[in-house]
Parts: sequence; C-alpha cells; structure tokens
Amino acid sequence: MTPPTSSLRTFGQPHSYPGKLIIVEGIDGSGKSTQLLLLQKWLESQGHNVFFTEWNSSDLVKETTKKGKKSKSLTPTTFSLLHATDFASRLYHSILPPLKAGMIVLADRYAYTAFARDAVRGVSRSWVRKLYSFSIQPDLAFYFKVPIDTAIARLLGGTRGQFKYYEAGMDMGISQDVTESFRVFQSRILSEYDKIVDEYGLTVMDATREIEEQQDDMRAVVTKALEHYKPKRGGYGKRTAVFWRRFGVSKPE
Ligand SMILES: Nc1ncnc2c1ncn2[C@@H]1O[C@H](COP(=O)(O)OP(=O)(O)OP(=O)(O)O)[C@@H](O)[C@H]1O
Ligand SMILES: [Mg+2]
Repeated sequence: MTPPTSSLRTFGQPHSYPGKLIIVEGIDGSGKSTQLLLLQKWLESQGHNVFFTEWNSSDLVKETTKKGKKSKSLTPTTFSLLHATDFASRLYHSILPPLKAGMIVLADRYAYTAFARDAVRGVSRSWVRKLYSFSIQPDLAFYFKVPIDTAIARLLGGTRGQFKYYEAGMDMGISQDVTESFRVFQSRILSEYDKIVDEYGLTVMDATREIEEQQDDMRAVVTKALEHYKPKRGGYGKRTAVFWRRFGVSKPE
C-alpha cells in the first residue's frame, strides 16, 4: 500500500462535513465491489451509519444512457457528459446529504473512473478533470491493482458471462472479438490508472491476493482514517432524518 504524499494534485473541493467519503477504483473484475460490500458489512457491524452509492446509477440519466448504449450512438464526449451528469446528480442527492449528516459514504467508483476511461476514449485529460471540478475530494481512495488476465479470468469464471459492448470498448473498433477488445481496452485503462495513482496518491491494494487478506488490510487503513471521526451511532437520528427529507432521498434500508 502506498501512503499519499503532500506533493500530489487534488481535484474538487476538500470537504469539512462530519461524515467520511471512502471510494474504490480499479478495472472491471479487480474485486472492488466484493471488497466494498465486505467493508460496508463490517462498518455496519461496528454500529456505523453507512450509505452506499455506485457509478452510473442515478435515476436521472439511467434511461438516456440505456437508450444510447442500445442504439450504440454514444460518442466519447456524450458518454463522458452523461457520466458526469450521473455523478453530479448522485453527488448532490446521494453523497452530500449523508456526509452532512455525519454518515460514512462508500462509493463504488468515483471521478477517477472517468479520468481513466474517457482519456482512453480520446477525450482530453485536462477537460475531464475540469469537468469534475465541482466534485469533492474523498477522504480515502483505494485502487485495486490487478493484471488484466486475472480480471478476465474472474469475470468469465463468475456469473457475468459475455462482456458487454461498451465495457469491452467495442465502440473503439479495436477488435471484432469481444474478449480481445476487452483485453486491449482494459489494458489501456490500466496504464491510465497507473498515472492517476501517481497523480492523486490513491491507496494501492494488491488485488491479486485472497479476498480475506485484502479485506484485513482495507479495514486497517479505514480504521486509521476514522481515528478522529465522531460516529453517529444507533440508527438514524433526528438530524439525519431531516437531511433525507430535505434532499428528497429515500432513507437506505
Ligand atoms: N481476491 C479475489 N480472488 C478471486 N476472485 C475474486 C477476488 N475478488 C473478487 N473475486 C471475484 O471476481 C469477480 C469480480 O469481482 P467484483 O465484482 O468484486 O469486481 P469489480 O471490480 O467490482 O468489477 P466491475 O468493475 O465489473 O463491477 C467476482 O466473481 C468475485 O467473486
Ligand atoms: Mg463492481
């Protein structure tokens, strides 16, 4: 694991909310969701109020993205802007309210995903970084580093089946073979992530290891990051409930 140093670039605003924002990054099949879910269960077992949000999941743009993907009509720029809209919507409706209420927010992918994928699709790196400047800096950002072949083996061995058109980068005309296209596209994303890790000082996890080993490390890093965090325990307090109502967000189960 590489600890962040002070000479790193930042993007977005540093936040001073009472909550904590923890995010995970990595290529498809690196094991992000597996680790974040385990972390969520553990944090909840410790009595923390946790809110989970994932990339590309806002109701606002879901239908448009689906339509664009189905008709294969997304260009690198429209794709990038749709993801940024999704992100903005979730930031204001799903990330900031719980942070203001003192909760721990877990995000499965963050703006770094856009930095990596959009750059590979040929979108200007500085343009994407400026696009996300409304964002806030996470308190902790994990990067799950894994070789491409390990990721492919995991995905094909799991319940995923065949890769999807855009996840395999088929829009880039790399190869007619979907697995080959996935390999080339995701390899390019891997090299882009390598630069992003150095640029922003993400905490690198060796994602080739056993699930439990990685989880132990992740919990140790999170425990340290939460050292000065004043948790709000015991369900949703009055203040938290007011936040959910004010932002029109359903209270998580
Ligand atoms: N350390 C590990 N060792 C072996 N298999 C793993 C490990 N971590 C996760 N897996 C398996 O690999 C597959 C992909 O894991 P997961 O869904 O967590 O990846 P992901 O990074 O979230 O992928 P995506 O970006 O596509 O959502 C799953 O079937 C999961 O059970
Ligand atoms: Mg996932």
